[in-house]
Amino acid sequence: MNTNDEPLGYAANIKPLFRELDRNSMLDHFDLWNYDDVVSNQDGILGHLVSGEMPCDGPWPESNVALLRRWIDKGSRP
Ligand code: HEM
Repeated sequence: MNTNDEPLGYAANIKPLFRELDRNSMLDHFDLWNYDDVVSNQDGILGHLVSGEMPCDGPWPESNVALLRRWIDKGSRP
């Protein structure tokens, strides 16, 4: 669990949200298991998760979307 005042980092909090299926499905566009790739594409990634377009096999729970949004809002730390 993450409370609102805990620092969030890509390696500890965000990368584990991406399954191997997610990574492999999106590798032609970016590598979800690579920090720099995710930061470079973070707005599109968040947008597709918010809209429910992604992942292709069912939307994320709102708590995961909120975690990603908070990570971005706090400066997308590694
Ligand atoms: C957390 C998981 C995922 C995220 C964050 C994600 C994110 C995205 C984003 C941002 C795009 C737009 C890319 C662009 O226009 O450059 C996209 C496109 C797409 N994604 Fe995902 N995706 C995820 C998982 C998946 C999965 C599991 C599948 C299917 C097995 C999938 C299939 C596709 C397809 C087919 C497209 C369209 C590609 C195209 O236009 O050529 N994605 N995704």
